[in-house]
Amino acid sequence: MTISDHTVAIIGTGNIGSTLAADFAAGGRDFLLAGRNAEAAREVAAGRDGHAEVVSVDEAVERADVLVLAVWLDAFEQIIAQYGERLAGKVIVDPSNPVAPDGNGGFKKIIGEQESSGQILAGRLPAGARLVKAFGTLSAGTLSASARREPERAVLFYAADDDAADDDAAADLVADLIRTAGYEPVRVGGLDQSIRLEVFGDLHEYGALGRVVTKSEALKVI
Ligand SMILES: NC(=O)c1ccc[n+]([C@@H]2O[C@H](COP(=O)([O-])OP(=O)(O)OC[C@H]3O[C@@H](n4cnc5c(N)ncnc54)[C@H](OP(=O)(O)O)[C@@H]3O)[C@@H](O)[C@H]2O)c1
Repeated sequence: MTISDHTVAIIGTGNIGSTLAADFAAGGRDFLLAGRNAEAAREVAAGRDGHAEVVSVDEAVERADVLVLAVWLDAFEQIIAQYGERLAGKVIVDPSNPVAPDGNGGFKKIIGEQESSGQILAGRLPAGARLVKAFGTLSAGTLSASARREPERAVLFYAADDDAADDDAAADLVADLIRTAGYEPVRVGGLDQSIRLEVFGDLHEYGALGRVVTKSEALKVI
């Protein structure tokens, strides 16, 4: 099965949620869009050629097989706590960067130096839910500007553990979703590699890599 056989939802209508809504729609993908504020979600959905169906967060959790949680780490944790077992069997896509303003115009990490939000969040999911780290390696502005880049697509790195599903692996579904959104997917490895994709990690735009890369460039650094 491919991503087109699945229902996809974006939860969160801020910088990343709205950028991905535009990218998915540009790729011809229908999706559910949910936020705390239905009016804000309707504004993001407007102009997406009918590809975005605005629903409540509850309905998105109910109907979607693949949920992109475009929210900050604390909200992500709240959503996992609130929906718990209802997330079992679903693919949870995690773009989160565990940072907060440092008071000097920059950002500081809000979890341990060697910790990643990807691994922390995966550990809180119910059995059967599969987390994939993706869509968080570029700032929203760079992400938006890099979609459908020609002549070579911009790479989005992602990380996922292998799972038991033969023809429906979470990693493959999210790779498909990345392609649909207008980028080239490059898998870095399992979730133990999440830290490399998060802010200050070597594959993040604000880490050692520091720029958007093509697939051939990406394969040299993973
Ligand atoms: N911004 C970037 O450049 C960037 C780049 C890479 C990764 N990321 C990551 O992407 C995630 C989102 O960042 P962002 O910049 O898009 O944040 P944002 O603009 O502040 O948007 C966050 C969204 O989450 C919604 N939200 C908060 N709590 C919620 C809940 N309980 N249920 C449903 N929706 C909820 C907010 O709704 P309200 O408007 O009602 O508060 C808002 O729509 C973060 O984890 C961030 O680290 C961001």
